[in-house]
Amino acid sequence: MLNKETVLKALSGVDDPELKKPLTELGMVRSVTIDNATVKVEIALTVPGCPLKDKITSDITAAVTQIEGVDNVEVTFGVMTDEQRQALKEKLGQAGAGQSGDGTATHIAKRFIAVSSGKGGVGKSTCTVNLAVALTKIGYKVGLLDADVYGFSIPRMLGLTGQPTQLDDKLVPLRWGDNLQAVSMGFFVAEDEPVIWRGPLLHKAINQFLTDVVWDDLDFLLLDLPPGTGDVTLTIAQALPSAELLVVTTPQATATHVAGRVAKLAEKTKLSVLGVIENMAYFEVNGHKEYVFGRDGGKMLAERLGVNLLGEIPLETSIREGADAGQPVAHTGTDAQQGTFEGIARRIVAVSS
Ligand SMILES: Nc1ncnc2c1ncn2[C@@H]1O[C@H](COP(=O)(O)OP(=O)(O)OP(=O)(O)O)[C@@H](O)[C@H]1O
Ligand SMILES: [Mg+2]
Repeated sequence: MLNKETVLKALSGVDDPELKKPLTELGMVRSVTIDNATVKVEIALTVPGCPLKDKITSDITAAVTQIEGVDNVEVTFGVMTDEQRQALKEKLGQAGAGQSGDGTATHIAKRFIAVSSGKGGVGKSTCTVNLAVALTKIGYKVGLLDADVYGFSIPRMLGLTGQPTQLDDKLVPLRWGDNLQAVSMGFFVAEDEPVIWRGPLLHKAINQFLTDVVWDDLDFLLLDLPPGTGDVTLTIAQALPSAELLVVTTPQATATHVAGRVAKLAEKTKLSVLGVIENMAYFEVNGHKEYVFGRDGGKMLAERLGVNLLGEIPLETSIREGADAGQPVAHTGTDAQQGTFEGIARRIVAVSS
């Protein structure tokens, strides 16, 4: 039956695309009017010119036309008043509630995984993105914080463009699929522009990415670290003392050197080491494995650190292509590629933190 209640009930099944909560619950439905077989819905947006208008319109139309007797749905948009935005922020409650009393940000997620390496270019970002995707595929809510403020690569690797919505002092991360949220400096500056900041600003940026962001109720927050073992890791260790270091290595890295660096990093930051991923482990041609960069570096590193080797990822052109095209292989790759990352994700889940 067509009446205001049935329309509101239908709208309660429509989520805001960014906040992933029903429009009705977020106080975004300003009015519903019924004129014979035409239903008019006015939506109050958090910000004017919200890029998701089309999506909201089609979702509302799809939901409301389900009601018997509806021929036509008209969706119009207004903007929330300051009070309404305030009420919305309060409703979002814990999410993005700022720092805990002790200055940490540990309430954001159940587990924090900082992806690091003894040296640059080994595939940290590639692994982080694919792992994040794999974790969502096995049912977890995941946040991805691009802590490589100068050399960000997460937006490109996930194919995310555009700027996050700002809800006063809070930032709504961009989404990849339903259950992966991401923040990166790359959402604010052009890819070919250098980001030149001094240490204290860097520290502040990372902390803002943790606390001034409307994160979902996350199971995992993955942090893609910049190469090296510098300041950013210390900042993260301070804000997230329970974070676990996930170490990515290539096979040739003489285990002792890299192990030493990672062990020192863990010691300096008092973070635990979760495990090791060996990336670019081999290149397979006609069923024959070529150990281009040597062999077993990951295994040796894991042994020296006293942790598990969580997986070995081959060197494959399509992994690089997927990263460049914003199509992570954990999502669009071969069954083997998807299986590799899902396997690592499951092993991470199984490690009791
Ligand atoms: N298994 C793989 N097979 C093929 N190419 C890969 C693989 N892993 C990473 N790459 C490619 O290697 C390059 C470096 O990877 P990535 O940017 O992930 O490394 P990184 O450790 O994050 O680098 P940085 O230290 O600069 O942050 C990228 O072009 C990426 O696409
Ligand atoms: Mg990187």
